[in-house]
Amino acid sequence: MTAARLSVHDLAKTYDTGTRQVHAIDKLNFTVEAGELLCVVGPSGCGKTTLLRSIAGLLRPTSGRLEVDGQPVDGTPPGTAVVFQEYGRSLFPWMRVADNIALVLRDNGIRSAERRERVREALDQVGLADTARAYPWQLSGGMQQRVAIARALAYRPRLLLMDEPFAAVDAQTRADLEDLVYRLWRDLGVTIVFITHDIDEAVYLGQRVLVLSAEPARVREEIAIDLPAERDQLATRADPRFIELRTQIQQHIRDSGR
Ligand SMILES: Nc1ncnc2c1ncn2[C@@H]1O[C@H](COP(=O)(O)OP(=O)(O)O)[C@@H](O)[C@H]1O
Ligand SMILES: [Mg+2]
Repeated sequence: MTAARLSVHDLAKTYDTGTRQVHAIDKLNFTVEAGELLCVVGPSGCGKTTLLRSIAGLLRPTSGRLEVDGQPVDGTPPGTAVVFQEYGRSLFPWMRVADNIALVLRDNGIRSAERRERVREALDQVGLADTARAYPWQLSGGMQQRVAIARALAYRPRLLLMDEPFAAVDAQTRADLEDLVYRLWRDLGVTIVFITHDIDEAVYLGQRVLVLSAEPARVREEIAIDLPAERDQLATRADPRFIELRTQIQQHIRDSGR
């Protein structure tokens, strides 16, 4: 599995609501190298979801160019999977966990035996091997979000887009899920764009953090996270360098609000 490279050139998106125009994104430029884990952080309403949906080919930008592996984005780029914030709405409640995961594989023409194998493997990867026959509503929020991650993994993506995936779960679950994503990223070599409004989460997970300004979203700052590759919820967050980086980003966000 090779990882994908992403580039964003002068991206702009204006929503026309009829009564007014919302300039959600303007002149946004950045690239993500193959195999990188990039975190994008910015205040609520600054245009993060608009950016992610544009990359995923779910939303047509007003202007600018988006390329995945040198190919212009026109519909969801091949090998791209998305994990959204609202796990409750992203799984079908009437379908068992395994069927939820298998569905997208079937839609992609993967045969039944291979589907079963991939579902098993993906559930194993997220530590939910024994929930294949459960229904989503029988699982906790954190487990449902694991299923959503498993569904993305079963597709064997080269580019994984995550939009505030852990915003709706409790702190301990969130920490576990962060470590899960970090481990999967290191094991699988997939390219990840991880969107969050949580500065600590961005510094904890990212190799690089892109700080967006609000209204319209532009790249305010790009910060390389020079923390040891081995991340640990307690040790990493207590590292003076972690605190320095987090403070630096907080300042950028505060200044961009002025
Ligand atoms: N479909 C839409 N129509 C009009 N305005 C929208 C629409 N979607 C988002 N917006 C506006 O665009 C801005 C950016 O929204 P969004 O990308 O969801 O931000 P974020 O994900 O950072 O919270 C906000 O001001 C939001 O109200
Ligand atoms: Mg959003």
